[in-house]
Amino acid sequence: MTDTQDRLTPSDADALAADVRAGLTATPRSLPPRWFYDARGSELFDEITRLPEYYPTRAERAVLEAHAGDVAAASGADVLVELGSGTSEKTRLLLTALSRAGTLRRFVPVDVDPTVLAAAGTAIRGEYPGVVVEPLVADLTCDLHRLPRTGRRLVAFLGSTIGNLEPGPRAAFLRDLAATLRPGDSFLLGTDLVKDPARLVRAYDDAAGVTAAFNRNVLAVLRRELGADVDPDAFEHVALWDPDAEWIEMRLRARTDQVVAVPALGLEVPFAAGEDLRTEVSAKFRREGVEAELAAAGLAMTHWWTDPAGDFGVSLSVP
Ligand code: AVJ
Repeated sequence: MTDTQDRLTPSDADALAADVRAGLTATPRSLPPRWFYDARGSELFDEITRLPEYYPTRAERAVLEAHAGDVAAASGADVLVELGSGTSEKTRLLLTALSRAGTLRRFVPVDVDPTVLAAAGTAIRGEYPGVVVEPLVADLTCDLHRLPRTGRRLVAFLGSTIGNLEPGPRAAFLRDLAATLRPGDSFLLGTDLVKDPARLVRAYDDAAGVTAAFNRNVLAVLRRELGADVDPDAFEHVALWDPDAEWIEMRLRARTDQVVAVPALGLEVPFAAGEDLRTEVSAKFRREGVEAELAAAGLAMTHWWTDPAGDFGVSLSVP
């Protein structure tokens, strides 16, 4: 991997600067999870998906293994758009089902990380020679207008990535997405479900410390991209369940009194020992809640599938 691939594009650098300025000066301090995903962060996330404690990836894969054929039949799609596609590993189940159904022409993986997108694009072109692959580097919360407009589209948003949005932005995202869909299109959404809090916390605080490294990686991104003076090891990884919001929060907790300096932004941010920087929320869902949120955006749920254990839900909805 070359150094240039690790760096942000100029517009991303502006977005990062704005997010860091806003988040580090707010109370409580926070950063959006988007900035986890540089090349190293994507690699660490990939490792997370294989951890024994991190069940969502396997549970969602089980749903798709059982029901990709149903999704293909119900959607009749000739264009598959995958939001936040990452390595597009589970997507292959959809691509195969849509290819077998004989409808698939185009695949548009959409991700914020150009490196991971390029690799996935190359692999999928080799595996599905009849399918035109058009990767799109985009931020899901503001670039939905850049999605392809032609064809009968199946938009897939898997991995429960929607849970990284808080309720307000989530409703806005679903409204914007619904507004880009036309009759005949459909929306496939993966949502991790509410369950025993102890299991949830373990999934975000694994014994091998991979999630801790993933969480701290955002500080490495700040060092590299903004020249921030911050020691990732001076922060402890924290994962906790908020029973009212029904979400997991990841935080970085200052081990000692310290100042995080971001000279490029003229920022000197004091952290008291024990003070938290919130880096992610990962909301957990219930079927009724998903259906209600879709309905509020103007989408009607037509199908709901879970894995046998009921850990993860996948819904199909239409405008
Ligand atoms: C990006 C939604 C798949 O919230 O579970 C994994 C990211 N963070 N471990 C999630 C994540 C910590 C993940 N998703």
